[in-house]
Formats: sequence, C-alpha cells, structure tokens
Amino acid sequence: MNEHATIAPNNLDAFWMPFSANRQFKQAPRMFVAAKDMHYTTAEGRQVLDGTAGLWCVNAGHCRPLIVEAIQRQAAELDYAPAFQMGHPKAFELASRLATIAPAGLDHVFFTNSGSESVDTALKIALAYHRARGDGSRFRLIGRERGYHGVNFGGISVGGIVGNRKMFGTLLTGVDHMRHTHDPERNGFSSGEAEYGAELADDLARIAALHDPSTIAAVIVEPVAGSTGVLPPPRGYLKRLREICDQHGILLIFDEVITGYGRMGTAFAADYFGVTPDIMVTAKGLTNGVIPMGAVYVKDEIYDAFMGGAEHLIEFAHGYTYSGSPIAAAAGLATLETYKEEGLFERARALEPVWAEAIHSLKGEPHVIDIRTIGLIGAIELQPVTGEPTKRAFSAFLKAYEAGLLIRTTGDIIALSPPLIISEDQIGEIVETLRSILKNLD
Ligand SMILES: Cc1ncc(COP(=O)(O)O)c(C=O)c1O
Repeated sequence: MNEHATIAPNNLDAFWMPFSANRQFKQAPRMFVAAKDMHYTTAEGRQVLDGTAGLWCVNAGHCRPLIVEAIQRQAAELDYAPAFQMGHPKAFELASRLATIAPAGLDHVFFTNSGSESVDTALKIALAYHRARGDGSRFRLIGRERGYHGVNFGGISVGGIVGNRKMFGTLLTGVDHMRHTHDPERNGFSSGEAEYGAELADDLARIAALHDPSTIAAVIVEPVAGSTGVLPPPRGYLKRLREICDQHGILLIFDEVITGYGRMGTAFAADYFGVTPDIMVTAKGLTNGVIPMGAVYVKDEIYDAFMGGAEHLIEFAHGYTYSGSPIAAAAGLATLETYKEEGLFERARALEPVWAEAIHSLKGEPHVIDIRTIGLIGAIELQPVTGEPTKRAFSAFLKAYEAGLLIRTTGDIIALSPPLIISEDQIGEIVETLRSILKNLD
C-alpha cells in the first residue's frame, strides 16, 4: 500500500477529478449528497436548484420513481449478461423503442456507455461503411471549429476546442474542420436559430473541393454546439450541410449528446430543424443520466451494408463489455416511459418561449455581452476580465452555488439547461439569482 495514502472519508487527495480545478475544489469542496426532482442537497444540508440537469443529462429531474425502481428490479433479476454473441431481452426492447422515436429511417441502434464512445463508434461506423461498400478511399473525417465531441481520440480529432486537443499529439490524421458559426456581431442576443450564417455550410463544399469529395467519409456536427458555449445553427445551415453531403456521398453525423431526448422540445434536434442525419450520436438523456449509456442510431442502408458475407462471421469488430447492459437498458426503458407519461418533450416545447423571454431579460445587466437561447438551453456570455479569461464566469459559478443555484460555465459563458420538469417559477428563480449575481460581480 502507498504509505502516503490514507483511507478516510474526508481525504480528497486520491480522486483526480475530471474537467475540474482540483486544487480549488479541494480547498473548498462542493459536495452533493442527495437529489430530488429539481434540487440537489449539499453536504451542509442546503438545497441547490439544478439549472443544468446535472451535466445536460438529467432531463426528467432527479431520482424519478420509475427509473429508480427499474434499476433496483433489474439489479436483483439479471445483473449482467455478456454483450458479445449473447443477448438479453431489454437491450432489444430498448433499441426497438428508440427506433420508434428516432427520425424516420434511423432504425438501428448500437449501444455504448457514453457520448465519447458514441462519437468514436459513429466515426468507425462511417469509415467501415464506406469500406464495406468497396469505397475505402473515403477516409477523411470533417468536424468543425469549436465542436465538442467528447474526449476520446476520434472525438478530439474532429472536435474543435483547442484546450481539449493541444496536449495530445497528432490525433487522427485525415481530419479537417469547417469554420464555426459564432457571429455575435450579426447574431447577437438571438433566440431560436441564428439569423445569419447559413452560407458557412459552404465550407464543407470548399473542403470537399480541396481534398476531392471522394476522399471524405463523413462530417460531424452538433446541431446546436453546446459545450463551447451554446451556438444555435444559422437558419438553413443544417439543410445546406445535408444537401452538400447528398451531393458528394458524404455521411452526415449529428452529435445529439446534448440535444437529444427532449432538450429541444422535440425528441431530437433533427426533428426541431427538420434535417435527418445518416448517423445520430446520443447518450446523457437516454437514461436520464442515471446509468452510463450511449446509443448510436444509423440509417437502414448503413446497417444493411454490413450484413453481407458468411453468417457466422462478426460483421463489425467493435463493441464494449457494457454495450446495452441489462441495468442500463432497464434505466433507458424507464426513462423513455417517464418522458412519455409526463409529456416532457411537449412540456419543453411549450416552455421554450417562456424560457427565452426570461433569460433574455438579463440583457443590459453588468458584463453581459450576448445571450443565446434555443429549446431549453440558454447561454449568457460575459465580458472576460482583461488578461484573465474564464475568471469572471467561474466567479459567477461559485456565487451561484452559494446562492443555491447550479449553473455551468465554459470560458466566460454561463450555460443553462435545466431538467424539462422545471416550473415557470423556478425559471424566474434562476434568472433573478443570476441577475443579482451579475450586479455584484467583479
Ligand atoms: C455534443 C457532445 N458530444 C459528446 C459528449 C461526450 O459525452 P461523455 O461525456 O458522456 O463522454 C458531450 C458531453 O458533454 C457532448 O456535449
């Protein structure tokens, strides 16, 4: 045993926290010990309103009975079953149910354990699909500046957040990036789709011309870029991407890890924008964030392209020990049931204008340089402190936590994405808490 290790509940040293300022946290820990519906309970017994659905995932709110019971039941009945060459009914049932809520034609589902794994799975499917069809010269993958596609090597290669890429060497080769669509000068203080910038989709045509379209396997975008600070797409942008992909035989992948499962007031952003991708990447809200699970949806033609050759052979050499595991599948089924029973997607749809109006009322408060809302997502962009980027937003985050509100910050942008069960009063509470924080922020 490591002589420096001590096993005590209050020793915070051993846990290397993900995407966190470890030293800052360990000096003044913020611990949640319980949660119910819209609130967390801190170790000190305070209630904190969840303005972010955990990490954009707890779409139905916390500790929902159907999901809790389903997990408990499943753990006692069939805890684990091998995922390779064996099956269990709930994984098949969940895949079938998911196909019924997916955009038409996306009828096959590959299970993973996270958004990052879903992204890398989708990229591998795209490459292997072209090869299976005898078109193996399509090896390039195109992403977009400011894109976030998780943290695995495929995802950071097509992703466009510099801080997530710069430490990790050469990444995947054969990757290129379209320009991002952030244009606060023309699109400032927008709700819904951004007004200007559809022409930025032509970047894909430019890149296709540069490399020759026959070398491009797929393009991946978040329909609404989330982690970079909420960038709704310009009106017509996604349709234009779809057209260019169709023209050149390029697969269009939507990363719906944040936008899926009701966040936009529709099952998926594909429905909101009326554009159907060839592959759709999801996770988070699939199980209400309760059990790690991701799902990659593919079009029938893609699945069918793999289903040739001798029948005893594995068609796609990919998968995870926990792909579609029984407890995750049970959680997924109960989550879908909760969404449906409570009409949560429709609820989010109805709340979108209320949400937009409330968040936009923060225009004019100190430090606010832009506000963007779409679906039940909001972003408030702050003027950075000169020479100290991220400091002002992080300070707002700490003050919000003290005031009983959980927000998320990325750069100097406050991002909001509450559970879809949020009440109008609670929307008001988020906004008024933020207003008073902004008024007192350095
Ligand atoms: C669009 C998008 N893709 C992928 C991911 C990665 O998901 P995970 O953290 O589950 O690996 C995220 C996480 O926020 C995301 O927002």
